[in-house]
Amino acid sequence: MLRAVDYIRARSWCFRKMWLKLLIWLTALIQLLAGAPSELLGKIFGGETASIADYPFLVNIRRGKQFRCGGALISPRCVLTAAHCLERRHQQVHDLFVHAQQQCLDDPTPETHLRQAWFAWVPPKYQPGRSLDADLAVIILRQPFDKSANASTVPVDFNDLPEGANLTVIGWGMTSNEDHNWNQCLQATNVSLVPQCDCVQQMGKYLPVTNNMFCALGANSTDACAGDSGGPLLHAGRSAGIVSWGYGCGSGLPGVNTRLSSSAMTWFLKSFLEQHC
Ligand SMILES: *[C@@H]1O[C@H](CO)[C@@H](O)[C@H](O)[C@H]1NC(C)=O
Ligand SMILES: *[C@@H]1O[C@H](CO)[C@@H](O)[C@H](O)[C@H]1NC(C)=O
Ligand SMILES: *[C@@H]1O[C@H](CO)[C@@H](O)[C@H](O)[C@H]1NC(C)=O
Ligand SMILES: *[C@@H]1O[C@H](CO)[C@@H](O)[C@H](O)[C@H]1NC(C)=O
Repeated sequence: MLRAVDYIRARSWCFRKMWLKLLIWLTALIQLLAGAPSELLGKIFGGETASIADYPFLVNIRRGKQFRCGGALISPRCVLTAAHCLERRHQQVHDLFVHAQQQCLDDPTPETHLRQAWFAWVPPKYQPGRSLDADLAVIILRQPFDKSANASTVPVDFNDLPEGANLTVIGWGMTSNEDHNWNQCLQATNVSLVPQCDCVQQMGKYLPVTNNMFCALGANSTDACAGDSGGPLLHAGRSAGIVSWGYGCGSGLPGVNTRLSSSAMTWFLKSFLEQHC
């Protein structure tokens, strides 16, 4: 009985969300084409509640207090996220904060779990007026997280994903003006790698799909969606991608992610890690 009620509620939410997402994506695309700052925030769709304890490297990124995106600690002082999360303000990071170990976005963050950004780097290839190619950013923190914060780091998978690879995507959903206080606790879902030709065919009509991107989609396409923008796509305990963009949520179309195994992304990230992280 309860399950059925939940199911119906989930479904109606599903469809309401789908239209909302279509609208949000459309707005984002229009802004993108107009060259205005874009807000391309995805959301875990039809996922399950996840425990932050299982993903101790996962952080959320805020401007002031406002939640913006997910991210992953790739070293105690470096956060990997999507470039569009910085909204073309990667040179203005004084109000950019990183929260670790939060289960829900409203949970209090003790000082050990909070860090201020010091510097952010976006690849020169990232040209948001034209596309979302090379949608990757690294944020260096003023102070690294220390062990007492229980934060850990996630290794980056620079290898090409095997065909049909199973990935996990995690995030808090968004709490923007369009979507206040909604689903603010951590969620996870499993998705699979979509062949690149299908990715280009299905998503290329919205924005160019480049070699620095890959698509992924969950088993129940109506329920699956990309996770929070900036969050990692995990493959066998490593981060193989970054949630980047999509069209609608639960629309059956795959989510598009930054591909860390492309030569351009690998080269950038490896040299950056060596020098700064
Ligand atoms: C770290 O994790 C342990 C075990 O889960 C917990 O007891 C402790 O409070 C955590 N410390 C912080 C600073 O979150
Ligand atoms: C992904 O998971 C499914 C279901 O568990 C399994 O059948 C499939 O072989 C997995 N794919 C890969 C590439 O491991
Ligand atoms: C994802 O797949 C793993 C391994 O098959 C499973 O243990 C986990 O429960 C799945 N998570 C979700 C959110 O479906
Ligand atoms: C997909 O949906 C069906 C029907 O609702 C359900 O039985 C199945 O477990 C779902 N699969 C996943 C991977 O969530």
